[in-house]
Amino acid sequence: MRDIVIPFNKPTYFELQKKYILDAFENRCQISGDGEYSKRCESILRDISGVKHALLTPSCTQALELCALLLDLKPEDEVIVPSFTFVSTANAFASRGAKIKFVDIREDTLNLDETKLAQAISSRTRAIVPVHYAGIGAQMDEILRLAQKHGIEIIEDNAHGLTSTFDDKPLGSFGSMSALSFHETKNFTCGEGGCWLTQDDELFARAETIRNKGTDRTRFFRGEVDKYTWKDKGSSFLMPDLLAAVLLSQLEQRGIIQSKRTEIWNRYHQELEDWANINGVRRPVVPKECRHNAHLYYLLLPTETERDRFIEQLQVKGISAIFHYQPLHASEMGRKLGCAQGDLPVSEDVSTRIVRLPFFFDFSSEQQSTVINTVKEFVC
Ligand SMILES: Cc1ncc(COP(=O)(O)O)c(C=O)c1O
Repeated sequence: MRDIVIPFNKPTYFELQKKYILDAFENRCQISGDGEYSKRCESILRDISGVKHALLTPSCTQALELCALLLDLKPEDEVIVPSFTFVSTANAFASRGAKIKFVDIREDTLNLDETKLAQAISSRTRAIVPVHYAGIGAQMDEILRLAQKHGIEIIEDNAHGLTSTFDDKPLGSFGSMSALSFHETKNFTCGEGGCWLTQDDELFARAETIRNKGTDRTRFFRGEVDKYTWKDKGSSFLMPDLLAAVLLSQLEQRGIIQSKRTEIWNRYHQELEDWANINGVRRPVVPKECRHNAHLYYLLLPTETERDRFIEQLQVKGISAIFHYQPLHASEMGRKLGCAQGDLPVSEDVSTRIVRLPFFFDFSSEQQSTVINTVKEFVC
């Protein structure tokens, strides 16, 4: 086996982020949360997401945990999530007392299958948590219709989808709350990071308290109260301003980042079309209602054996291609927590056949040619 010469991911880096970090150290008095860089990031994130309020968090996981705390879950309350997703989509709610109900995904977008939602909804359902896999929107019109009909919250796990839209409306603006990720694999990154967003003034006021240890410290810093004290349940969900400095440098360069990523995505899609058709490989599907942010590029190989052989063949050539989520309904923890186990054939099938190709901002045209040529050497 050769050493990896083309990694799967390389975090985006700009010289500007060094400048902002130094500035945060040298010229600002606040490197903890809610400093000036945080506020500038939140303003941009509100604009992109088309919502009224945004709060930076240390991760998307913690933004989802904040959503769970705001739901005030009671025993027996249920939260619906797709099984084909990252652990945190379910764990944030399960660890705050919800019963998780898993629903299968659509074969085309790999997003929550809205046609399976109605049968998963019960009188105890409190929230539906759609994921916009690969930055391609879940079918938000139908999900919204069902949620409104049953009086259920929608919480969008928008870890992948910043700048994407569904029906020309930004992802992250459909639910009562949504969560973003700035982990190093994401389009915009500060290593680890996240953001919680909402349209709702009351949720926002409470979120400010919950994320600041259950205190009204944020209001105290704004001069709205003369001391701060314990007000609500809570935790510590602030992103240090130092990391916000890194994030801001990337959000300000979002045009450059997005145009490079779109170029990479489109090139994979075009140049692998004939090879995929000949070999029975499925490329990503983007429904006409969706404009996506080129977050990742995946392929679905015909079988698990072919997928594993594909990963191995690329690895031998020094290229790192990686599988993705294992279905949560079949996981050890899912079963331990007594999560409702459905018959979820698409999630199970996709997880065995999916592979993601190298994809990062610094990806050179030569590197991409090497990946594409190596992929084309593979015969199913
Ligand atoms: C769909 C989804 N939700 C949540 C997360 C968790 O994000 P974070 O690492 O920022 O906590 C991820 C991580 O990649 C993810 O893919």
